[in-house]
Amino acid sequence: MARITASVYTSHVPAIGAAIDLGKTAEPYWQPVFAGYEKSKQWMRDNTPDVIFLVYNDHATAFSLEMIPTFAIGCAAEFQPADEGWGPRPVPKVIGHPELASHIAQSVIQDDFDLTIVNKMDVDHGLTVPLSLMCGQPAAWPCPVIPFAVNVVQYPVPSGRRCFMLGQAIRKAIASFDAPLKVQIWGTGGMSHQLQGPRAGLINQEFDNAFLDQLIADPAALSNKPHIDYVREAGSEGIELVMWLIARGAMADVNGAGAKPTVRHRFYHVPASNTAVGHLILENN
Ligand code: DHB
Ligand code: FE
Repeated sequence: MARITASVYTSHVPAIGAAIDLGKTAEPYWQPVFAGYEKSKQWMRDNTPDVIFLVYNDHATAFSLEMIPTFAIGCAAEFQPADEGWGPRPVPKVIGHPELASHIAQSVIQDDFDLTIVNKMDVDHGLTVPLSLMCGQPAAWPCPVIPFAVNVVQYPVPSGRRCFMLGQAIRKAIASFDAPLKVQIWGTGGMSHQLQGPRAGLINQEFDNAFLDQLIADPAALSNKPHIDYVREAGSEGIELVMWLIARGAMADVNGAGAKPTVRHRFYHVPASNTAVGHLILENN
């Protein structure tokens, strides 16, 4: 049977992708950001999974105000890096896992979560920047990736509670897939940032670090945080953090069966463009 071995959490920022693609990672501004992912890249090499289930948000790239799925699962065989205005990032195409993705869709939808099935989709910085941070600049990504897009851009957005419960349903779905696959689940986006309006540039280090603490220690309680608290405390784009609860909900301990996860790595840095960068690696025991 397939199993979830670990979860990875990381912010995404378009400028991080640009810094990598333009060879600026050693510049003084960026060096401390990328230093925080050196350990992560080694960990990825040592713990390469068979599949990554990557929870992220599309930024009006594949979807627009014309169509806004709350939860969308990518079932295609491959996904191209999106053109977000400066041409597609020079990164490998994403190879999907249609069999596992279809199985998860079947299981999760029958578990009462209404997913949108996506068979053609370009993937934006929300997905490619986390892959770059964790994997560097390989000729091909190390394994197939199932993109799972969450609407955190246009209100109404899903609650943290629903995201957390969805993670539990995804865990059950993966555990019932009849192949011995090691699967990582990634929750991406966040941490505190606001890109527009009078509060543009908002960063809240206290909130971010309390979120990291509680995500590790008591995610069920954290899942009850109302969406308005994210917006007030972490800025309008801080709501991206609810996606981390999907990945955390898929870990063994929240289903009552497993032991607490091991914190393999934790990193926090300000600034990266307008965003506080947070990062965690949790391993199932
Ligand atoms: C920035 C952060 C984001 O999450 C995003 O989607 C776009 C821009 C930023 O900090 O510049
Ligand atoms: Fe974003």
